[in-house]
Amino acid sequence: MSTLITNIGELVTNVPEAGGVTAAAVGGIGAAADGGAATDRRDRGGFAALSDAAIVIDRGRVAWTGPAAQAPAADGRVDAAGRAVLPGFVDSHAHLVFAGERGAEFAARMAGVPYSAGGIRSTVAATRAASDADLGANLRRFAAEMLRQGITTFECKSGYGLTVADEARSVALAAQVTPEVTYLGAHVVPPEYEADPAGYVDLACGPMLDACAPHARWVDVFCEGGAFDADQARAILAAGRSAGLEPRVHANQLGQGPGVQVAVEAGAASADHCTFLSDADVDALATSWTVATLLPGVEFSTRQPYPDARRLLNAGVTVAIATDCNPGSCFTSSMPFCIALAVREVRMTTREAVWSATAGGARALRRDDVGHLGVGAQADLVMLEAPSHAYLAYRPGVPLIAAVWQGGNLVPTASSDVLFGRESGQAGIESHQ
Ligand code: NIG
Ligand code: FE
Repeated sequence: MSTLITNIGELVTNVPEAGGVTAAAVGGIGAAADGGAATDRRDRGGFAALSDAAIVIDRGRVAWTGPAAQAPAADGRVDAAGRAVLPGFVDSHAHLVFAGERGAEFAARMAGVPYSAGGIRSTVAATRAASDADLGANLRRFAAEMLRQGITTFECKSGYGLTVADEARSVALAAQVTPEVTYLGAHVVPPEYEADPAGYVDLACGPMLDACAPHARWVDVFCEGGAFDADQARAILAAGRSAGLEPRVHANQLGQGPGVQVAVEAGAASADHCTFLSDADVDALATSWTVATLLPGVEFSTRQPYPDARRLLNAGVTVAIATDCNPGSCFTSSMPFCIALAVREVRMTTREAVWSATAGGARALRRDDVGHLGVGAQADLVMLEAPSHAYLAYRPGVPLIAAVWQGGNLVPTASSDVLFGRESGQAGIESHQ
């Protein structure tokens, strides 16, 4: 069944050839790991939107976009009443397989205690102690929380198990809720390997990787003081690659260090955090296919200085925005909150921030079927209780997600029920049959 959503105040497509308002290029295409001249990899896309628009979705895909006045007929019709419609958010960095919480650690930070990687171990203890059922229920709760808030694609990491069995069950659970599963056995060295970090790297490159690789697409490593150094990170990424996993890296979160260089060298899809960068790091990103994924919720929740997106964008780096939802450094699943921070604190325009939370996230996951609303894209849509994307930062903290479609299906939420009625069904609201 096809559905026409019409009377859309602003339809953000991220497809400039569809016409409408187009912002300057904001990123690179990022589909290969072999580098290339910066000018060649500039995104000819970037933010793009149509006003007074309509979209037709059919069998889970975008079938048509254009001016509302020219919209073709469809089986069902939704009146957006002037609201904005965006591509579903693409969250390219989240840690949702865990048990327990660290509210007291957050409160202590706000009272002046600095964030340290060591807190991860308390979540590791809680995760190891949890049953499969509890861990799975927790994960599904957070996945549903994200979807209600417009995140229609998300990446999910292991990294709170840190034994062969606990990492294997973490990736297996993650694979039940997303295809974008990341093996993060190299999150920190667990306490039982404190005296033998090399032994832990061997485990993470050997039996643990073997147990996890069948369930994962990505391999990640926390390359930072207190976690893994450059050589250890290189070993982890190389082992992951030979097991068929593509690299991504937690880099330069707590201070300057080798993480970004290691990521670029490995042809990683993304270097995540990028809070403390040298000029050489910015240059390396600008001349590579590695996306810089900024996680401003982390700086909010750890009272660290924010990264500087302007410096990256001016250099031609592709920037993504993601939540990093985890119980330690940033316990938010709200992309609108991260967009507001990106605009206010990370020096992005509203268009850049929305592009980075949709198309940028897709680049960081090397996906071309999400993050935009070109014909043939997955019909993942967010309808705002607002006339334009800018309201995501203009009205911070306000629940603006009016409705969400994932793969063409209207996600049942309290606000979509109010707007379209509980019986609104798959995707149609008024049926024309
Ligand atoms: O991305 N930096 C490493 N990992 C997480 C934090 C995890 C934690 O504190 O539990 C992050 O911020
Ligand atoms: Fe993280």
